[in-house]
Amino acid sequence: MINVLFVCLGNICRSPMAEAMFRELVKREGLEHEVHVDSAGTGDWHVGSQPHEGTRNILIKYNIDAEGLRARQIRESDLHDFQYIVGMDASNVQNIEKLIKGKSSAHIVRLLDYVDERQEKNIPDPYFTGNFEETYELVKIGCTNLLKEVRRNHNI
Ligand code: 4NP
Repeated sequence: MINVLFVCLGNICRSPMAEAMFRELVKREGLEHEVHVDSAGTGDWHVGSQPHEGTRNILIKYNIDAEGLRARQIRESDLHDFQYIVGMDASNVQNIEKLIKGKSSAHIVRLLDYVDERQEKNIPDPYFTGNFEETYELVKIGCTNLLKEVRRNHNI
């Protein structure tokens, strides 16, 4: 199994959107028995909550299954359990690296590292900007390219 974890700050806006979108793409490509998807936040404020209304509305609008999304905090075991740990911005990656201290062999990246044509690699936080459409567009292109990379890396 290839395990992919999306990480943001609160796990209610960006990373659950990426989780739902990536799972949808994986399902469309018939890879659900090969790729497992999850998300987590580096903070603990929203543990147990469903996604932010803005994320829920976007997922409904684009017909992406949001069933079962509940916020959780990243934990040390994630660093061993997931081969891809995908942050939404540089501060997420810094927080993940603080937790790791060299103890993980995972690919620790930002989602937009997979989008060559875009210079700005941080996904703005819609919790503060209110712009969930922008998040959707960035998450969509990032997830599309990430899945291509995963397929290439693992020959699936
Ligand atoms: P997210 O957005 O990291 O994309 O889930 C945020 C959600 C909540 C908070 C910050 C960012 N917060 O400060 O509660």
